Amino acid sequence: MNIALIGFMGSGKTTIGKRLACQFGWTFLDSDVLIQEKEHCTIAEIFAKNSEGYFRKCEKSVLAEIAELERVVLATGGGLPVGEENWEILHQRFFTVYLKADFDELFLRITGDPTRPLLQKYPTRKHLKELYLSRLGWYERAHAIIDTTQKKLERILGEIIEHAY
Ligand code: S3P
Repeated sequence: MNIALIGFMGSGKTTIGKRLACQFGWTFLDSDVLIQEKEHCTIAEIFAKNSEGYFRKCEKSVLAEIAELERVVLATGGGLPVGEENWEILHQRFFTVYLKADFDELFLRITGDPTRPLLQKYPTRKHLKELYLSRLGWYERAHAIIDTTQKKLERILGEIIEHAY
């Protein structure tokens, strides 16, 4: 079994995933990092030079590769759980955890970050909120939903572990 952390940009998937992997003694992987290593460029460059569609294909193939492994904590890109094909793999091979957070909180965390190409595609708060709302149905398919609002890291980790066992 593996664990996949899903959720919108800024929801803490990487920070929480690293700590969780450390606690379990499992491998931590981040789908965005693996894609960047394979493509030898940043996510922003992939979006600019290729396209978002190309990036989504990279996400699919990286997910299929990780699904072959065991004892991995995966931090997914915020858009990875969008689509039936990826969910089929997620449900088969991962215990999925949705790190839920208020949009206002997420917006504060991600706004102005130059490494996030979607902030150009969805340039205003309103556009980004529409994207967030359109994703909720996909995220809510997770095995466990952890509300991270106003919670300390230790408590979030504890709640994930409780759900996973
Ligand atoms: C994306 C989220 C990003 C990254 C890419 C697209 C999205 O990952 O995969 O910029 O579609 O929500 P994080 O959620 O880790 O920021």
